Amino acid sequence: MWHPNEDLRRSALGLIEGEKNLIANLSNLAAVIYHTLPDLNWAGFYLWDKNHQELVLGPFQGKPACLRIKSGRGVCGTAFAQLKTQLVDDVHAFPGHIACDSASRSELVIPLLWEGQCVGVLDLDSPKLARFQAAEAQMLEALMNECMAKIWPGRELL
Ligand code: SME
Repeated sequence: MWHPNEDLRRSALGLIEGEKNLIANLSNLAAVIYHTLPDLNWAGFYLWDKNHQELVLGPFQGKPACLRIKSGRGVCGTAFAQLKTQLVDDVHAFPGHIACDSASRSELVIPLLWEGQCVGVLDLDSPKLARFQAAEAQMLEALMNECMAKIWPGRELL
């Protein structure tokens, strides 16, 4: 039986297999997520910039987005600061939400964890209210953990 999550997992792991370049891997991960999961208008990464002490925009699919986000600010900065997935049913009800695309109505942000540290986040936006479910968030957390174990060893922060 076709299972979209298992399909996404296989495609994602296949795309990063044997490649160590961070930009290349995150670009393909953003693309495969954006084109596999339904009802997204943005999918991409923000990475921790240790020199400037803020998140900086990484590879993504969707409209141009805000370049830098402070820790604790918006949905992305909150996920980063708390090392905790943020599932937001209605972005207009999230205090401090940073609107990049006015079409976005719900959002899911998954922290990218490496050796207990948050090194960035995966950010997904949807034009549909309450698009994201806990089960899908858990699947993406597990997928990001698997991907991080393949692409992050030996890597320094930006
Ligand atoms: N909405 C995010 C900002 C990033 S864009 O959605 C791509 C936030 O509140 O952190």
